[in-house]
Amino acid sequence: MSSLQQVAQSASSLQSVPSYLNSEDLGPWGNYLRQVDRVAPYLGSLSRWLETLKRPKRILIVDVPIELDNGTVAHFEGYRVQHNVSRGPGKGGVRYHQDVTLSEVMALSAWMSVKNAAVNVPYGGAKGGIRVDPRTLSRGELERVTRRYTSEIGIIIGPNTDIPAPDVNTNEQIMAWMMDTYSMNQGQTSTGVVTGKPITLGGSLGRREATGRGVFVVGCEAARRIGFDIEGARVAVQGFGNVGGIAARLFQEAGAKVVAVQDHTGSLYKSTGIDAGALLEHVAKTGGVGGFPEADAVTNEEFWSVESDILIPAALENQITEKNAAKIRTKIIVEGANGPTTTAADDILHDRGILVIPDVVANAGGVTVSYFEWVQDFSSFFWTEDEINQRLERVMREAFAAVWQVSSEQNVSVRTAAFIVACKRILQAREMRGLYP
Ligand SMILES: NC(=O)c1ccc[n+]([C@@H]2O[C@H](COP(=O)([O-])OP(=O)(O)OC[C@H]3O[C@@H](n4cnc5c(N)ncnc54)[C@H](O)[C@@H]3O)[C@@H](O)[C@H]2O)c1
Repeated sequence: MSSLQQVAQSASSLQSVPSYLNSEDLGPWGNYLRQVDRVAPYLGSLSRWLETLKRPKRILIVDVPIELDNGTVAHFEGYRVQHNVSRGPGKGGVRYHQDVTLSEVMALSAWMSVKNAAVNVPYGGAKGGIRVDPRTLSRGELERVTRRYTSEIGIIIGPNTDIPAPDVNTNEQIMAWMMDTYSMNQGQTSTGVVTGKPITLGGSLGRREATGRGVFVVGCEAARRIGFDIEGARVAVQGFGNVGGIAARLFQEAGAKVVAVQDHTGSLYKSTGIDAGALLEHVAKTGGVGGFPEADAVTNEEFWSVESDILIPAALENQITEKNAAKIRTKIIVEGANGPTTTAADDILHDRGILVIPDVVANAGGVTVSYFEWVQDFSSFFWTEDEINQRLERVMREAFAAVWQVSSEQNVSVRTAAFIVACKRILQAREMRGLYP
């Protein structure tokens, strides 16, 4: 590379780091930027538009004050980031967690752009979050936080502009409050403003299970491609909530054994298979997998070295890092969570021959059925659960096949292949629309 090119490249990387983040520690956004950089050489003339992907279109930071039950006033930080809307309105969940940061919400919004393009649903990418531990709030406080946050971000969301959905620690009830708050401010019932709603309020059958089902479908496709049977396969799952719990149940129903599970309350192991149904009931009663009597408790470190055929990280980001990637003994990692693997860990896994099915494909089942929900809301015509599951499985299989083909043809990881497919779609839309004004 000539010195002129080097200067140009360093100027462009500097340009990509926004002044509102700590350039020394970019957090999850830095992880996303590294993934985008890996795609650049495959974009041909579209690479002219690459910087678009490195800059969120719009970021809204809001103060969320509420009166607590004890009469004091508490303030929480809320975010909504619209990363890209070239292919359609913004779409992405809302996370309630005490560790939510701007960098995290930015990265999650960008992964939504890539995911929506990878499975070819007509959305851009967005994400929201509130920096709060919802377990410390009463139901009334949770409702007030949700309503105030929705009101504050109401200036940029809407059925045609940006459509939130559930994510970590948010659920159907929270979506119902968001829908109601937005509707009251608009003066009309607007069911299409959020997805993941209760069925009685325009929610879709199959939405609750959709992400776990998508993880299951691509897990089976990947196993078939590398030549092993799901029947009898050993599955390990980190995170036993909506995504991990449902995926574990579906793998078990298909004849696999859930040999290890970890959540925020502990880790479990049982070589003959943990009964996913019984564990789901235990979690519903106690709030976590810890203390489940029908499996052995193991340490969180031991969980990562359990031998399995499929490992599903379905908790939070940055769980598979340089520290544990060398210990993992599995054939396929199916990323249920968003951003669970750091780029350094990705390289270690690749060198060790472990196949990683990336989040932007593996967990796209949720947004796919969210898209079905939105379509059903607009047409006020609702489909059967069978129709939804069949359509979901078709979208997931087709997306997986397209990405697998690029991965084989270009000899790149499945993640880079997914980014190639998705980024080309986003940047083609960008190029054809042209720059305004
Ligand atoms: N729900 C969806 O439709 C959906 C769609 C796409 C991606 N995702 C992603 O999947 C992941 C899980 O989401 P969810 O909806 O299942 O959330 P959830 O709140 O239902 O479950 C989260 C799980 O993670 C566990 N967990 C939290 N902190 C942990 C820690 N430090 N160590 C181990 N386990 C921990 C929790 O105990 C819980 O079992 C997130 O990354 C989310 O962004 C969710």
